[in-house]
Amino acid sequence: MKKLTVSSFRKMKEAGEKIVMVTAYDAPTAAMAYEAGVEMLLVGDSLGMAVLGYKNTLPVTMEDMLHHCKAVRRGAPEAFVVGDMTFMSYQISTEEALHNAARLMKEAGCNAVKLEGGAEYAPLVGRLAACGIPVVAHAGLLPQKVEAMGGYRVQGKTEEAARQLLADAHALEDAGAFALVLECIPAALAEKISGELTIPTIGIGAGIGCNGQVQVIHDILGMSCYLPKHAKCYADAGSMIRKALGDYVAEVKAGSFPGPGNSF
Ligand code: KIV
Repeated sequence: MKKLTVSSFRKMKEAGEKIVMVTAYDAPTAAMAYEAGVEMLLVGDSLGMAVLGYKNTLPVTMEDMLHHCKAVRRGAPEAFVVGDMTFMSYQISTEEALHNAARLMKEAGCNAVKLEGGAEYAPLVGRLAACGIPVVAHAGLLPQKVEAMGGYRVQGKTEEAARQLLADAHALEDAGAFALVLECIPAALAEKISGELTIPTIGIGAGIGCNGQVQVIHDILGMSCYLPKHAKCYADAGSMIRKALGDYVAEVKAGSFPGPGNSF
């Protein structure tokens, strides 16, 4: 695949070409996603639920994130990799935010960082962008605010909330974000935002009118315990793995593995 940069994504939007993003947390899946043509790999803090066994994204640390970003970079050296800013890695102070974002780029080789929040984060997005750190903004449903919101709910449903989201999107673009993830908002609102912005929008539960789509890899491969409404299962890898492991257990118990072909 041709090496992609932040301007490639803007050009894709201008050309009407959809952008494909998926999460990746380890080297082999990063390599497979890159080979399949995925254009942006997101080491999302969904890492917490998908891989680390947490109930939400809040416990994920910068050290966890760096560890997995490095693995993804090793698996897909040429891919465009976005590292997520973890809960409280960018909220405490601008200095801490700059330091943590720089670590994702310098230590893990990320091409960009992503952070959750609306217009209130525009000044930070501006600082990061001014330092040469490309930022994917993330508006709509903000999983890092799950406790404050009392659950995961579709956002932007009232007229006022929709107006606020549109204002957030403009503020984040004006501050220098090069792309905007829109999570769980009505499709018509996402289409309106996508039409007004010049930067690409990447939707998850935000309908077909976005300039690209992002999904959690475990959801689309059938490896999650729960499939959100916005996701679609493209394979039942969970069943295949359970069946394969069941067969392995049965053969070891029966004494039929290893066979002559697996022995020296
Ligand atoms: O952490 C993540 O995987 C994300 C996507 C769902 C956009 O933020």
